[in-house]
Amino acid sequence: MNKVDLKLMDDIKRIKQEKSIYIIAHYYQRDEIQDIADFIGDSYAMAIAAKESPCKTILVAGVDFMAQTAAMLCPDKIILSPETRATCPMANSTFVEDILDYKRDHPDAIVISYVNTPAEIKAVSDICCTSSNAEKIIRQLPEKSRIFFIPDRNLGINIARRLGRIFDYYYSSCPIHARVTKKEILQLKQKYLNALVLVHPECDPEVVEIADYVGSTAGILKYTCDSKASRFIIGTECGIMHSIQKACPAKELILASSELICPNMKSITLDKILYSLENLETVITVEESIREKAILALEKMIEYASA
Ligand code: 13P
Ligand code: SF4
Repeated sequence: MNKVDLKLMDDIKRIKQEKSIYIIAHYYQRDEIQDIADFIGDSYAMAIAAKESPCKTILVAGVDFMAQTAAMLCPDKIILSPETRATCPMANSTFVEDILDYKRDHPDAIVISYVNTPAEIKAVSDICCTSSNAEKIIRQLPEKSRIFFIPDRNLGINIARRLGRIFDYYYSSCPIHARVTKKEILQLKQKYLNALVLVHPECDPEVVEIADYVGSTAGILKYTCDSKASRFIIGTECGIMHSIQKACPAKELILASSELICPNMKSITLDKILYSLENLETVITVEESIREKAILALEKMIEYASA
């Protein structure tokens, strides 16, 4: 860590203490941001942490749908984003008209939206999910129900296969997780003998098929620390490596590809966080007519995930 970063980190720690601001970060954030966060989690844990925050003001170090979700779940709190342009290209590839068209054609279907969606999409969905709870939620839906899974086709297919079902899918996926390939994983397994392969369910189904464990970012971290194995090939964004290394330093970690960097997650920096804390900018709000519909899908997710 260089001197400038250390000074920024000290300033951030002081200001968040003075102003009583809670910092919630995703595992894909830069190492130094994970180090100053009050809470680090996967997208579901971040949403719950916002609800349970001990402070009235929360800074969300993550992409826009994460800050929006916190704003919708905590209307009595102030949600700050240090970089409003940090977004998720997969989340932005969904269109309300497509969902409404589908619902018109399939009025009995259940629309499940991955939390990686804008508030407008959640507002026309029946229930939300994240990679950590999708399977548990879908198991509680009527067995014969027709499901429209949006927007991540890979996540949808991977869950449907585990449940022995077929869903209707939206044609989108994460451009970062697409960089994990079966070919590269097989080469790494040859090079790093006895390594276990742990991947995020946003990866291609053919990658998931050869993995030893498939789970959310928090799931991958927990699996690595709990496992008796010592060597792991990690198939998700590189930021997770920092948290795993801190939690279980004796484990050997190999990133599945050197390209696993989400530029949107990495567009948040210490100086942007400091500016945001000093100026209480940018406050994230969601128009009430959208929030009152989207919150139903989010609350249903929490109800089913905690059942
Ligand atoms: P997690 O819910 O596993 O943290 O995933 C969020 C995400 O954006 C993955 O690309
Ligand atoms: Fe979106 Fe993929 Fe980045 Fe996650 S890693 S925020 S799904 S682009």
